[in-house]
Amino acid sequence: MPLRKMLHGCSCLVLLVLGIAIAGVNSQLDSLGFINIDCGLPNPSIVDNDNAGGNFKFLSDEQFIDTGINKQISSQYSPKDISNLYFTVRSFPNGTRNCYTFRSLTVGNKYLVKGAFFYGNYDNLNRPPIFDIYLGVNYWDTVNSSTISSYYPEIIATATADYLQVCLVNTGQGTPYISWLQLKELETSMYPTVNSSQSLVYVSRFNLGASNRRIVRYPDDHYDRWWWNMTADTWTEDSTNSSVGYPDSEFDPPSFIIQTAAFTSSTKEALRIYWTSNNPSTKFLVVLHIVEIKDISSIDFREFDINCNKDTWFKSVNPGRYFTQINGKNVTANWLTFRPTGDTYYLMSLQATARSTLPPLLNSFELYKFANATGVPTDIGDVTAINAIKENYKVTKGWSGDPCIPIDYAWTGLRCTIYSNVPRITHLNLSSAGLTGELIASFGNLTALVSLDLSGNDLSGALGTYLDQLVALTYLDITGNENISSTLPPGLQKKQQDGTLTFKSKLGDFTQQSKKKKVPVVLIAVVGAVVLLLLAVAIILVFCLRKRPDNQIYIPKPNENTGSSPLTNNYGGNFAYSPAANISHGNNAGQNYANISKPSGSGEGMLNFENRQFTYNDLKQITNSFQNNIGTGGFGSVYVGVLENGTQVAVKMRSHSSSQGVKEFLAEAQNLTRVHHKNLVSLLGYSMDGDCMALVYEYMQEGTLQDKLRDNGRPLTWKQRLRVACESAQGLEYLHKACNPPLIHRDVKTNNILLNSNLDAKIADFGLSRAFNNASSHVSTAVVGTPGYLDPEYYQSYQLSEKSDVFSFGVVLLEIITGKPPIIAGPEGGHLAKWVTQKLSKGDIESIVDPRMHGHYDINSVWKVTELARKCTEHSSVKRPTMSVVVAELKESLDLEISTEGTRSGRTINMNPHPHNYSRNDNFISDVSQNSVFQMGYMDGMTAPGPAAR
Ligand SMILES: *[C@@H]1O[C@H](CO)[C@@H](O)[C@H](O)[C@H]1NC(C)=O
Ligand SMILES: *[C@@H]1O[C@H](CO)[C@@H](O)[C@H](O)[C@H]1NC(C)=O
Ligand SMILES: *[C@@H]1O[C@H](CO)[C@@H](O)[C@H](O)[C@H]1NC(C)=O
Ligand SMILES: *[C@@H]1O[C@H](CO)[C@@H](O)[C@H](O)[C@H]1NC(C)=O
Ligand SMILES: *[C@@H]1O[C@H](CO)[C@@H](O)[C@H](O)[C@H]1NC(C)=O
Repeated sequence: MPLRKMLHGCSCLVLLVLGIAIAGVNSQLDSLGFINIDCGLPNPSIVDNDNAGGNFKFLSDEQFIDTGINKQISSQYSPKDISNLYFTVRSFPNGTRNCYTFRSLTVGNKYLVKGAFFYGNYDNLNRPPIFDIYLGVNYWDTVNSSTISSYYPEIIATATADYLQVCLVNTGQGTPYISWLQLKELETSMYPTVNSSQSLVYVSRFNLGASNRRIVRYPDDHYDRWWWNMTADTWTEDSTNSSVGYPDSEFDPPSFIIQTAAFTSSTKEALRIYWTSNNPSTKFLVVLHIVEIKDISSIDFREFDINCNKDTWFKSVNPGRYFTQINGKNVTANWLTFRPTGDTYYLMSLQATARSTLPPLLNSFELYKFANATGVPTDIGDVTAINAIKENYKVTKGWSGDPCIPIDYAWTGLRCTIYSNVPRITHLNLSSAGLTGELIASFGNLTALVSLDLSGNDLSGALGTYLDQLVALTYLDITGNENISSTLPPGLQKKQQDGTLTFKSKLGDFTQQSKKKKVPVVLIAVVGAVVLLLLAVAIILVFCLRKRPDNQIYIPKPNENTGSSPLTNNYGGNFAYSPAANISHGNNAGQNYANISKPSGSGEGMLNFENRQFTYNDLKQITNSFQNNIGTGGFGSVYVGVLENGTQVAVKMRSHSSSQGVKEFLAEAQNLTRVHHKNLVSLLGYSMDGDCMALVYEYMQEGTLQDKLRDNGRPLTWKQRLRVACESAQGLEYLHKACNPPLIHRDVKTNNILLNSNLDAKIADFGLSRAFNNASSHVSTAVVGTPGYLDPEYYQSYQLSEKSDVFSFGVVLLEIITGKPPIIAGPEGGHLAKWVTQKLSKGDIESIVDPRMHGHYDINSVWKVTELARKCTEHSSVKRPTMSVVVAELKESLDLEISTEGTRSGRTINMNPHPHNYSRNDNFISDVSQNSVFQMGYMDGMTAPGPAAR
């Protein structure tokens, strides 16, 4: 490798490479959705020649990190034995924390991140280090390297920003290093338990019944998950070549994995796997893939229970070639998951039932542990600004990763304060840091700065007006910069005159007070202390007023930039247009509005709610201090809570910056108190406590119809879709016909149709609803609604009628049929109604039907509903049916579907595991010594076999 050596020695070339790398910073994910980097490699790209598969192109890590040094492993390791990926490492002798940054990711998407650590005595110390790794601000794993094998930690996490960082943290047990890193974007439907507050850390992943193959990975597994061969002496194996299994969007195992399985040799013998954990509070996720791969004769029958320790997680599991049955019920999947916790030792057993004639089978097995992803990173505006400063002045303080979090690893020279859960940079000390050139505007973006020390540098030019954005600044020091102008911008000048800013410049300017006359040092100290105290009080007051009574939840002021959660499980809000100017309420709402906006008069019964009233503290208790945020939208946030009687509720807190104004909030509350129907989300209570405004709804466990139709969860069957359509139509019909005065919803969309655990559909979000008296049409002052669902006639004429809801509902029906969004992207795209019409004009009904139903529907039934949807989406409102007609037709279709049920397969049932007590037999644990139990080793740090040979 002479070229590599040359690069090592020549710093100008390294700089050149760096320059190119920075220029190319935007393109990171390759066409397969991977980022593969070989750490410590100065050469821009090599190819992974790992003979276990892969053949990825691994890039040099230069463009992903700016700290650390390149090293090579000891020459005692021969390239004949070890893949070239392991020959270089990057090592981090300086700084507590050093981070790699993967950029240009998608907020809310899931990523699989895998690292490799092969020590290889690269430092000739023969002392493998122990250190921690973090994903962003959250602890991921501890790397305990050894001289003989490599360690491959893996995590599945949701990106909460458009970048992810992998950080190595020195814990005082040796210098951290790394061999290579890989990131892969996953489908959003995968690993549904992963969200923005919870990740999965890999423990192990095994392929059973294929002991002729050590590992299955890319390209068999699109995500390059590694499935290791697992076998035990008493297991038998089999495989099939034919296609088996139901399409699985949750775990998407390679078909190769489920085409092989292991069996025990008799029905008497359980298939057992055990593992241990050094922490009983660790929560595990077990994923079992179970598909029948044998042709079973009619006299044979395979059925087993799945137990783990004393719990039976699944009873009477009967694997089919496509559909597994549990307790006689079909489940449209070939995977089962359960979540054991509370022990240090777990023994899972698949035990044939008494009536089973065949032994248990298992195709593959995944084991993860849950990890918190609850750390809140530093305010993104601060992060952007401080990184711009770091790059501009080439700050060499080893700054890496999140500036503030974890607090122990905060960047040197800065201090942070947590305001309402979000860390902000409040003190920045860059004195004698070698800064040259002019000040950059990014300093003005550190808007929470209290103290800025730039003394002892070689800065020049003027102090720009951007510094006036630093409204909290109380201390600014620019002494010792020969060429900088000491004129403050107007805002800071005023603060200096007020005495709220201490300004030190090369001319020796101090605050006005201290300049007036000479005062004894003691007095200065006392006055200073008092001023500081007053300042502190003022700052505390300011922040108290800004904050909620309790700083668990922060409702931002209008115009304040808040990063909204990637989760948008919507209980309302999300308006594309500004809310209507004049919403008429049932009664004297204008007056109520005035009353409520007074901080003292907390509603005082001005609204005629029949519902229960909650205080802010009640809400805090119900929601366990607002822990479980299930959605954030224009209106604020929605939290899950539990009432004293155990009822689950959704608490929608209105935020001050809400695009859903107080009026819309009240409109929704008012409307909801008037309407009661099983297909409308019901209001259980409300809160108007000080400036806390909240609505308490029944909780809809299964979320929005939109989520159900798109990627998340198991696909709905045609019958389920029909029932959802029928029920939501009934909800709308009720609004139109049975309410007095009647209501137009005005924002009917799949995101406003919620489903409970029973998949009952209910209409939500009445924030825009509008009463229309005499059933006559109205002229409204502003068009409201959501693009794609908007009635084109209303949009042109401002004539609002209940037919506008019918149009939107027609779009909902089309979504239910096709699984597609109302506006389809791409050259062939456009409005869904147009797309469907085009397809149908070619007589091709099957091509519009959601492929996720896998053909399990009655084509006549689909045809009928499609026709109905097209009538609903007629351009001219008079041609559209009323909701009563829509309901009648949908009911007819549903009845037809129920009467023909059973002639098709594909029914989905709710597959929550129901553990119950299991009487443990005495020699349970001693079974472990037998061969049929596969020893998996210690789970909190599973070591896989060493680096693959070439
Ligand atoms: C580590 O720190 C030392 C002394 O502070 C310095 O000489 C060296 O260049 C640094 N190394 C890296 C890789 O930053
Ligand atoms: C599969 O694993 C077994 C032990 O679990 C081992 O004996 C066998 O050699 C492995 N097969 C391959 C191809 O590595
Ligand atoms: C995750 O967070 C919860 C609540 O904040 C805490 O009780 C639990 O111990 C944490 N789990 C881990 C593995 O850190
Ligand atoms: C400051 O922040 C604003 C808003 O986030 C952004 O548009 C602007 O580009 C930033 N300016 C600098 C110099 O970083
Ligand atoms: C389960 O699915 C099979 C088709 O795989 C079907 O024949 C059977 O009737 C279904 N059973 C139930 C109870 O739905």
